[in-house]
Amino acid sequence: MTNSNNSSVDIAGAAIPTGLFIDGTWRPGENDATFDVISPASGAFVASVADASVSDALDALGSADRAQASWGRTSGRERAEILRAAFDLIRQNRDVIAAVTTAEMGRPIEQSLGEVDYGGEFFRWFSEQAAHLSGDFGSSPRGDFDILTTKVPVGPSLLITPWNFPLAMGTRKIGAALAAGCTVVIKPAAQTPLTMALLVRLLAEAGVPAGVVNFVPTSDSAPQSEALMADSRLRKVSFTGSTGVGIRLLQQAAPNVLRSSMELGGNGPFLVFDDANLDAALDGAMLAKFRNGGQSCVAANRFIVQRAVADEFIARLVERTQALAVGDGATPGMDVGPLIDARQLARVQNLVDDAIAQGATVLTGGKSVPGNGHFFEPTVLVDVPPHADIANEEIFGPVAVVSVVDSDDEAIAAANDTPYGLAAFLYSDDVTRAFNATSRIEAGMIGVNRGLVSEVGAPFGGVKASGLGREGGKLGIEEYLETKYIALARLER
Ligand code: SIN
Repeated sequence: MTNSNNSSVDIAGAAIPTGLFIDGTWRPGENDATFDVISPASGAFVASVADASVSDALDALGSADRAQASWGRTSGRERAEILRAAFDLIRQNRDVIAAVTTAEMGRPIEQSLGEVDYGGEFFRWFSEQAAHLSGDFGSSPRGDFDILTTKVPVGPSLLITPWNFPLAMGTRKIGAALAAGCTVVIKPAAQTPLTMALLVRLLAEAGVPAGVVNFVPTSDSAPQSEALMADSRLRKVSFTGSTGVGIRLLQQAAPNVLRSSMELGGNGPFLVFDDANLDAALDGAMLAKFRNGGQSCVAANRFIVQRAVADEFIARLVERTQALAVGDGATPGMDVGPLIDARQLARVQNLVDDAIAQGATVLTGGKSVPGNGHFFEPTVLVDVPPHADIANEEIFGPVAVVSVVDSDDEAIAAANDTPYGLAAFLYSDDVTRAFNATSRIEAGMIGVNRGLVSEVGAPFGGVKASGLGREGGKLGIEEYLETKYIALARLER
């Protein structure tokens, strides 16, 4: 990989833009400022990317604001066709997009290909919705006038996307926003701006008009977000990331009463009842825990296993964990790549060390891997005290914490003993028992005998400290629409 010129980098034979994209033009950051993208797998330099200043970000908002009226007036069919073209381009560029994601986050290439498929589908899904937006028609209960509702775009939207699924978390927001008729300013995570830069290029190629999609990577997101959120031209913010940052954004959203969608942290419980099919539960556990190296807000953090099956479940979990191949995801066949950066590696190590100091037993793993990459050994811990930080914080790493319980009630109480409520998982072969448990588990998404809940056609989102709103599914587009009600007098005839 080399910087082929000032505005693009060559990865897997494709020119990936490294500039800002504002008003339909790629351009450098103010004063030619840049920041570096570094491979977490090797510590090697990947690219130098334009670093948007606050003034660049406000230019991007100005561009989104100017484009809003005409984009909001386009027909649903026109927006649908552009999104469908973007979906086709994602499919055509599948290998390159996956290579870019793996270059900047080190993730196993097979998982990056999977994200391209998953992420691309959001554009197909929202293209199918864009042409079918409708309001409602009725009459007042007294029958003296008619009630007409229409759907209108919220307006210019700030989309703040995370590094852990740099394509799909973008397409899930961008697809819904564009389908609804909103223009956008995208702020990608500083660790992974290149995947989004490539997506923005593909959106432009698909026919998105100038100003509708703007892209402002930055190494210093707090001042940028603060300035954008304080500007009354912005009408909406959608954020995926930590609960701490989400709370700060909600505080910034209050003065302008911004529509806000928040996909925040999780502390996923994974319940294994004593009648569970253990083969299925183990498959689900490996997926829920080790997909993306555990760096997912829907990852299983806490395995809560009933005593009758605990010994077998734990022994087999350890065996499967020890068999995982850990390494640079650019090499085919890896199961677990690096953590995203040195800070996250230190954080995971501290959580594990703290649990050990408080009496936890390490059944496998427990340490970072020596070398230039930010790798952590896939780990299984038992005997973790319930008050240890690792049982209460989102781990975002390949560490499974297993506890043993004696009843459904105890399992459900443990599952709910967290401020978070994003994803939960439950294994039982008794449908009634499982369904009863789902009604008592406080989570926005529950996988029953499934280790993966993420799905384009399903509403993704959490309760409690895990967020506000839903993305994807039938509800995702509503986050970018206002309902306008018209009271229509009946003329005397
Ligand atoms: C996440 O944001 O970590 C979850 C991504 C997904 O599975 O959709």
